[in-house]
Amino acid sequence: MAHLVAGLASSHIPAIGGAIHNGRQQEPYWKPFFDGFTPIHAWLDRVRPDVVVLFYNDHGLNFFLDKMPTFAVGAAAQYQNADEGWGIPTMPPLRGDPALSWHIINHLVAQEFDVVTCQEMLVDHACTLPLKLFWPQGDCPVAVVPICINTVQFPLPSAKRVYALGKAVGEAIRRWDSDQRVAVIASGGLSHQLDGERAGFINKAFDLQFLESLQSNPEWATQFSSLDIVEKAGTQGVELLMWLAMRAAMSSVASGVQKVHGNYHIPISNTATGVLALEPVG
Ligand code: DHB
Ligand code: FE
Repeated sequence: MAHLVAGLASSHIPAIGGAIHNGRQQEPYWKPFFDGFTPIHAWLDRVRPDVVVLFYNDHGLNFFLDKMPTFAVGAAAQYQNADEGWGIPTMPPLRGDPALSWHIINHLVAQEFDVVTCQEMLVDHACTLPLKLFWPQGDCPVAVVPICINTVQFPLPSAKRVYALGKAVGEAIRRWDSDQRVAVIASGGLSHQLDGERAGFINKAFDLQFLESLQSNPEWATQFSSLDIVEKAGTQGVELLMWLAMRAAMSSVASGVQKVHGNYHIPISNTATGVLALEPVG
């Protein structure tokens, strides 16, 4: 049986890639953000995941408005990263784990999630940046199964549906006949809005309530429609659905979670940033 050893979540913002590339982590603007990851590095050195299931949202690199799956699961041996227009350096291809991908896909389809399966998939900053933030040294040490959730074009999946998806992914990991150590990562959020009349919108009170709910009442956010979440967290703040999927996956392997470390910092670029590391308990 595979072991789910960690639940991780991080914001993704292209500017972070520029800061890493230019070595700006200790500058006053960036330090409060990057310092949030330091205690998590020491912990990850101990729990040592082999493979990560990464919930993220594509931003128009692999899927565009003409073809927009609600849920898509990567099933490739490797995933190329490409410049999506932010001018940040691209990363070497990510290593996939097709055996785990197909195991998850089979379980999801058996549970009546009609997912798109991708044997080729370009991955954007939402995949690459959290991996670089959690494992900053050298080559990425983990294989990756990317799971893409549409937050770009309406209609979006509801929080309730995303929770159910995360739960089913957690069941698949629990049933995976392997001694691999698995982490689940969420990439996105927290509150932010990049365009329109409310550009720059951030909602700290909602973010903190959401973060708290992930520990004490993980299904709390499933009461909201996707439009409710847009209203509360901003048009791009709906990316916090990824955090809900990650937490739901953990609920399938453990009765509770313990916070290893978390940080909340406003703003980086237009975004309220968060990082969180959870370990399963019980
Ligand atoms: C920003 C945030 C995002 O989630 C994203 O995908 C791109 C840019 C930003 O705040 O700049
Ligand atoms: Fe984004």
